[in-house]
Amino acid sequence: MTKYLEILDDQLELIKRSRRIVVSRIQEAIARRGICTIALAGGSTPKPLYEKLAQENLPWEQIHIFWGDERYVPADHPDSNQRMARQAWLDQVPMPPNNIHPMPTDAADPYLDAATYDATLRAFFGDQTWPAFDIILLGMGDDGHTASLFPQTAALAVSDRLITVGEKQGEPRLTFTVPLINAAHHIIFLVAGHNKQEALQQIFHSEADGFAYPSKLIEPDHGILWWLLDAAAGDRLTPHDTIYQTNPHPAL
Ligand code: 6PG
Repeated sequence: MTKYLEILDDQLELIKRSRRIVVSRIQEAIARRGICTIALAGGSTPKPLYEKLAQENLPWEQIHIFWGDERYVPADHPDSNQRMARQAWLDQVPMPPNNIHPMPTDAADPYLDAATYDATLRAFFGDQTWPAFDIILLGMGDDGHTASLFPQTAALAVSDRLITVGEKQGEPRLTFTVPLINAAHHIIFLVAGHNKQEALQQIFHSEADGFAYPSKLIEPDHGILWWLLDAAAGDRLTPHDTIYQTNPHPAL
């Protein structure tokens, strides 16, 4: 497993850098296999990235969009991750509607919808035990959660399916499981803001376990792990005092 840590001057630079890395990974996947599968993060950090990706001239018919987690709300709800990504990016480009695979939230039963999305992934990826997404984008909360894998929740231990039900303060959410995330070729964390510093310290420099700081559970089986931080988040970290390599491909 290869890990890269990059600390960018500010959020604008973080988005510019993540845009270049994501675009080059998309192009690389398409060059290799004729298709790119990417799972999107929710929250606020990735939204400007999605807006920048909407300005790219990419072979949209060869890109398939999934979500790594979803709040259990209707697709048109202001809190919907699907709604955010469609407004910021997917509605702005000529991507075939069948290439967009949102998490369902309309069965009035999150476990049923989780099973439905699990089946959707298995139908799409075929018989891979753990489908390997080309790219999984992740954010991180100030408590160290990622996707909808929250501290001290049962979802963290689920290892017999692709999709499970996470919960945030009792509210259900659909989420990729840890093994599904770790099967990806490129896992890219985008983390910004001073309020993330403490969780990053725990993840990079402490013996705290992954049940306390779930982002610590993200260790790709064979792929590359990218931590892209702005200075406000990464101020107490430097590439030199972590086990992470700085990116050897600055041209990326
Ligand atoms: C969600 C996300 C969640 C998010 C973190 C960070 O559905 O909210 O998937 O895991 O990435 O909470 O959110 P911010 O980017 O808004 O800090």
